[in-house]
This record gives sequence, structure tokens and C-alpha cells, in this order.
Amino acid sequence: MTGPLLGEYHTMEFVKVATIGEIAPGAALRVEVGDEPVAIFNLGGEFYAIGDICSHEEASLSEGDIFGDVVECPLHGAEFDIRTGAARTLPAVTPVPTFPVKVEGDDILLGVGR
Ligand code: FES
Repeated sequence: MTGPLLGEYHTMEFVKVATIGEIAPGAALRVEVGDEPVAIFNLGGEFYAIGDICSHEEASLSEGDIFGDVVECPLHGAEFDIRTGAARTLPAVTPVPTFPVKVEGDDILLGVGR
């Protein structure tokens, strides 16, 4: 096999990782999905999820300062777009992964699997 088949994307499942009361607007929460640390952000009531580990070195983005839709890595200050995972400033140049988020009632669900 040479890559993901279109149908495989339908195997994504959503798992509960938090409740909305755990993440205030303008705040973040680190969760673990399998072995993967993920940072969930609340941007004015909308929830977004990106990989928690900075793409530059080993630092937790959920512990960074949040400015609008950007999070600043607590270690060397690289900024990442919370919506897209894109690295906006040096020293990071590589994006961090993003994960689909769904809210059902009070539950925050994260899409996992490919
Ligand atoms: S570890 Fe994040 S900018 Fe260096």
C-alpha cells in the first residue's frame, strides 16, 4: 500500500478529552491521547487542538502565553497559530499537528486516528 486511502479517513473516531468548564476562554489544557500530548485552547468559546510539544525543542505549548489566536512557546518564544498549527516566528520553523475538535453538550471531543 502506498498511502492512505480516502476511505480510511472515515475511521477517525472522536474521544472525550475534557469538559468545556475545564478550559476558560483564553486558556489551554494539556491532555494525552494515547501517547500523544495535545494542547486544547479556548479562543472565545471556540475550541482548537494542536500538538502540545513545540516543534523547536521539548516544551509544552499549553503552558505558553496566549495572544489572540497565537500561543508563545514558554521556552524560546516561538509563536504558533492556534487554529492552523503554523509556526509564525523563529526559532520554530515547522508546524505542529492539528486535531479536529467537536463539542457535544459539555464534552470536548478530539478526533483521533487517520
Ligand atoms: S522549544 Fe519552543 S521555541 Fe524553543
